[in-house]
Amino acid sequence: MNGIDVARVRADTPSLADRVFLNHAGSSPNPTPVLDAVIGHLRDEARLGGYEAARNRADDLADVRRSIATLIGAGPDTIALATSATDAWETAFWSIPWRRGDVVLTCRSEYVTNAVNLLVARDRFGVRTSVVDDDEHGQIDLTDLERHLEDPAVRLVTLCHVPTHGGLVNPAAEVGRRCRDAGVAFLLDACQSVGQLPVDVESLGCHLLTATGRKYLRAPRGTGFLYVRPEVNDLIGAELTPLGSGVPHGTRPTGTRSRPTHRDSSRSSGAAPPRWVWEPLSTMPWSSASRRSPNGSGSWPGTFGLPSSASTA
Ligand SMILES: Cc1ncc(COP(=O)(O)O)c(C=O)c1O
Repeated sequence: MNGIDVARVRADTPSLADRVFLNHAGSSPNPTPVLDAVIGHLRDEARLGGYEAARNRADDLADVRRSIATLIGAGPDTIALATSATDAWETAFWSIPWRRGDVVLTCRSEYVTNAVNLLVARDRFGVRTSVVDDDEHGQIDLTDLERHLEDPAVRLVTLCHVPTHGGLVNPAAEVGRRCRDAGVAFLLDACQSVGQLPVDVESLGCHLLTATGRKYLRAPRGTGFLYVRPEVNDLIGAELTPLGSGVPHGTRPTGTRSRPTHRDSSRSSGAAPPRWVWEPLSTMPWSSASRRSPNGSGSWPGTFGLPSSASTA
């Protein structure tokens, strides 16, 4: 990215003192300013207690939201802090008041925990997922996407911008344009692109964007964020509102405020699944072991048997 003083960044990275670091930023070594801030805050917590220490850093947390907003070309009131990218993604996804028969479109390179949530939505709430085909380069096939978007039951498109393995970059702006034209909400997992590539929410056209802190942003683990474009509420029939003061979950409780979307106002809206619905998943046999695709294909939707465009369910 432009404007990075590489010599200074290297000087701020203690792990470079005694090793060549070939980590692709799957989880970055923390630079000195991050280390100092985290250790300093732990000392404050030990001295003052957690609430007082947090109160003392409220302005800094607001600055974090502002700097994230600047980085991705958004307004500060559109950013909620989260405890991970997965947390941010789930917050956005489960804020949608899903109705039986709704359809989510996803890509073959969907991230594993996102795919697991699609399974839960299918099994518990009758939300169908269709996996859009890849083109010959492995990117999402835009023609197949257009075909799927003709289905009025499509409520959300989720795309992984830069999937975990392999260096693929999906054409997110092209997907965003098609979602806008179709009036469908677009949730972009930008976990591996924010900090690595220029990411601008206006040109990408996404309504929701999630990312982690621990990769290219070089923040500690246990950090992430959710961007919410205010207009998304009209598309999904919910009220997603990033809260101020760095509260990790950027949504109001759902289920009580759901209303039909303009795409199908004839269907009644069901109650939205509450957040706790996710927790039983941690007890499922494949949830902890599911970091790597067992079939080597890199397609988590395929591994879990979510249908491709050839056989939509
Ligand atoms: C594309 C993608 N999305 C989401 C995640 C999850 O990030 P987190 O651990 O912050 O939930 C990862 C982590 O590897 C990822 O590569």
